[in-house]
Amino acid sequence: MIAISRLDPARDLEAVLEIEAASFTNPTTRDMLVWEIEHSDVSRIWVARSPEEPVVAVCSCWLVFDELHVHTVAVRPPWRRQGVARALMVAVFRDAVGEGATRATLEVRRSNEPARRLYEALGFELRGVRPAYYTRPVEDALILWRDDLKEI
Ligand SMILES: CC(C)(COP(=O)(O)OP(=O)(O)OC[C@H]1O[C@@H](n2cnc3c(N)ncnc32)[C@H](O)[C@@H]1OP(=O)(O)O)[C@@H](O)C(=O)NCCC(=O)NCCS
Repeated sequence: MIAISRLDPARDLEAVLEIEAASFTNPTTRDMLVWEIEHSDVSRIWVARSPEEPVVAVCSCWLVFDELHVHTVAVRPPWRRQGVARALMVAVFRDAVGEGATRATLEVRRSNEPARRLYEALGFELRGVRPAYYTRPVEDALILWRDDLKEI
């Protein structure tokens, strides 16, 4: 059973850094994460928990006026393909709608098939491309949007 809640920095920071390191070639650093937690009014960081594992997934976003900008979604490798990311994102979107969000956007590597399928299943549409946006390896970013967020 998965429970979803806002990040508790004192308790969750190490686990989030572990999940980032296991998931990305350019993971968020401790300094970046701490700065965001301490200084950003728009940052919203959520985690998914299970009884066996305190943090199984993380989703970090910025809520900018009525737009939710999703920066990270990552699930611990052994917990993937069990509906965790989908459940986490739906919970994050519903909370953001409660704070006034009407639409959501994110960027994804062109080759990231699991993430692209997840976002497609959540109603995201391709609206643009940033050529060679990512490094390690260099790759295009696809810019996706989901409108009518309150319908999710
Ligand atoms: C992308 C990621 C977050 C998906 O997390 P997840 O918990 O495994 O995803 P879910 O189980 O909720 O899957 C939801 C849907 O996404 C799609 N999907 C997820 N993983 C997939 C895969 N490996 N292959 C194909 N489709 C996939 C499917 O449509 C799936 O629905 P289904 O299982 O009913 O077919 C996870 O693979 C991950 O952490 N990857 C590394 C980090 C990353 O790339 N994050 C995204 C960029 S920010």
